[in-house]
Amino acid sequence: MPSETYRDGIIKKTRYLSGVQPNGRLHLGNYFGAIQNHIRLQDRGECFYFIANYHSLTTLQNPAELKKFTFMAAADYLALGLDPGKALLFRQSDVPEVAELAWILSTVTGMGLLERAHSFKDKVARGIAPGVGLFFYPVLMAADILIYQSDQVPVGQDQIQHVEMTRDMAGYFHQHYQKGVFKMPETLLSEAPKVLGLTGGKMSKSDEASVIPIFGEAAEIKKKVMGIPTDSKGVEEPKDPDQSVIFSLYKLLASPEETADMERGFRAGGMGYGDAKKTLLQQLEKKFGGEARDKRKKLDQNPDQVEDVLVQGAKAARRVACETMARVYEATGIAPSKIKRDIASI
Ligand code: ADP
Ligand code: TRP
Repeated sequence: MPSETYRDGIIKKTRYLSGVQPNGRLHLGNYFGAIQNHIRLQDRGECFYFIANYHSLTTLQNPAELKKFTFMAAADYLALGLDPGKALLFRQSDVPEVAELAWILSTVTGMGLLERAHSFKDKVARGIAPGVGLFFYPVLMAADILIYQSDQVPVGQDQIQHVEMTRDMAGYFHQHYQKGVFKMPETLLSEAPKVLGLTGGKMSKSDEASVIPIFGEAAEIKKKVMGIPTDSKGVEEPKDPDQSVIFSLYKLLASPEETADMERGFRAGGMGYGDAKKTLLQQLEKKFGGEARDKRKKLDQNPDQVEDVLVQGAKAARRVACETMARVYEATGIAPSKIKRDIASI
């Protein structure tokens, strides 16, 4: 994957953009599926990362919780190594033009495209009320991606279809109006695009029992890991590592040698599930305990510092968004409008 792309004859850095919803505590699936990649990419290109609070309104309608999880998500990113000197971190809603672009995209998008969205069908199947916002969700996500002229969208597997739909919507806009207003984004998957949860399916904030929060209290994490359901095979019996949630999580944290050791222990027998869980706990502590946890605790004491990062990030992101919107206003005939030009000059 190129770290630089040619555009208009000038070498431009690749622009990476992604979002995470503040609808619960961030977990290992978010980390290994997306956030780890986000942090690595800050040394490779221009990074735009945001807390998708507009999206969360589709499932979380509690203002105190939304504020709390928004702060927590931002503090988690910073504690995990996001450097605001290298990457932008901001609240989705601090660039309200994104909701305006979503509306405009919806006017060139057919119902059929949205009706095919897996995530909408899955959420409705899980009992979430099928509100208009939930149905509209992919249009807002397309606006998020297109408004920043993103090249690559680093996400987990569950988001692939949304990025494909984004390309479709950009195509419809180009057909209706004018080519070249938006860049065509691509999905960028991590090495772990689908992290298994403790209950067997995908680890997801929507199922609290499935998650290991990145910065949970040590006692809670211990309880969660030691409680991972297993079959009833005894210590000496051979076990299939590929069927084990413990092994699948361990692989994400351990070195290749350590992984091979656990795999041998499982296949040959002699490695009990209890021991495997303890080894997993040690790896979790090594990765997220210590320095990262200390940094995270300090941020809890300094909410203004986190807010400042979000505000500065939003200012820079909004400038880029307004440039795109100026092109959208021109292409659609919404321009000329003096007031919109004034906003674009902030
Ligand atoms: P959740 O599904 O837990 O609510 P989000 O939808 O906010 O999480 O996802 C934020 C990012 O984390 C997205 O890029 C998503 O693809 C990724 N992600 C979420 N869960 C997993 C998982 N279990 N495995 C890999 N990536 C995941
Ligand atoms: N839908 C994404 C998720 O649930 C969050 C998101 C919103 C996003 N807008 C985005 C991800 C734009 C990438 C790009 O994970």
